[in-house]
Amino acid sequence: MSRAANAWAAGLLAAVGCSALLAAQPMAQRAKACTGCHGEQGRAAADGYYPRLAGKPAAYLHEQLRAFRDGRRRYALMTELIEPLSDAYLRELAEYFAALEVPYPPPQAPTATASALERGRALALQGDAGRGLPPCTDCHGPALAGTSPGIPALLGLPRDYVNAQLGAWREGSRRSRAPDCMAEIARRLAPEDIGALSQWLAAQPVLSGRRARAQPDQPLPLRCGGDLPPRAR
Ligand code: HEC
Ligand code: HEC
Repeated sequence: MSRAANAWAAGLLAAVGCSALLAAQPMAQRAKACTGCHGEQGRAAADGYYPRLAGKPAAYLHEQLRAFRDGRRRYALMTELIEPLSDAYLRELAEYFAALEVPYPPPQAPTATASALERGRALALQGDAGRGLPPCTDCHGPALAGTSPGIPALLGLPRDYVNAQLGAWREGSRRSRAPDCMAEIARRLAPEDIGALSQWLAAQPVLSGRRARAQPDQPLPLRCGGDLPPRAR
C-alpha cells in the first residue's frame, strides 16, 4: 500500500467519523466509506490492489467482513472502519455490493513467460493430482465465476491481490473458517505456482453476465468451512 493511499485513507476515516454516523445513512451513502478504496460501485480497477466487491456472493462478502473484524484477515485501515459495526449492518453492506451488476475491467497483460502461463492454466483447469491439488474449477466453478454461497470468482481480480492472498494463506495471515481448504491448497502450491496462477488468472477476460453458479450436488474435493451448506463440508 503506498504512503499516499494510506494518508488518503486516514483522511477518509476521519471524514467518515464515528460509525454511528455511518449507520444513520442510506446504503448507497454508507457504501461511500468503501468505494474510495474499492472503486465506484465496488468495481475496482484491474491494475491496482483493491479487490472488486460488486457481484461477489453475499455470503462470501459477509464472511470476509467478519474475518477482518475478528482478525482472521488483516488490513488495519479496513478493520478500524468495520470493527464497531454489527453483524446485521455488515450483512446489509455485503448484500448491497453482491447485488451490483457492473462491468469488469479489461484483463491485465501478463508479464510472465509462456511456460509460466501454461503452468498457471494447467493448475487452474486440471490441477496436479500427484501433489493432491484439485483443479481450481472444482470449487470456483467451471468458468471460475464462483459458487454460491461461499466461494468467490477468481477472474476480474488484480494480479497482485491474488498473489498476496495465496501467499497470506500459506503463511497463515489469512485464515478462513475451519476446515480451511484454501490454506491447505496454498500450502501445496510452490511459490512459482502462485506466481503462475496469479499471472494466468489476471490475464483472463471476464464474460459479462457471468454469475456464481449454484452449489453442485457432488461434494467438493476438500472440506471447506464457513457458510457453505452441509453437503460441501
Ligand atoms: C482504506 C482502504 C479500504 C477501505 C476504506 C475499505 N476497504 Fe475493503 N479492502 C481493502 C483492502 C486493501 C483489501 C484487501 C486486504 C487483503 O490484502 O486481504 C480489502 C478487502 C475487502 C474485502 C474482501 C474481498 C474479497 O474478495 O475477499 C471486502 C468484502 C471488503 N474489503 C469490503 C469493504 C467494505 C464493505 C468497506 C466499507 C465499509 C471497505 N471494504 C472499506 C481496502 C479498503
Ligand atoms: C476445495 C475447494 C476449493 C478449491 C479446490 C480451490 N478453492 Fe479457492 N476458495 C475456496 C473457498 C471456500 C474460498 C473462500 C474462503 C473464505 O471464505 O475466506 C476460496 C477463496 C479463494 C480466493 C480468495 C478470492 C478473494 O476474492 O479474496 C482465492 C484467490 C482462491 N480461492 C484461489 C484459488 C486457486 C488459485 C485455486 C486453485 C489452485 C483454488 N482457489 C482452489 C475453495 C476452494
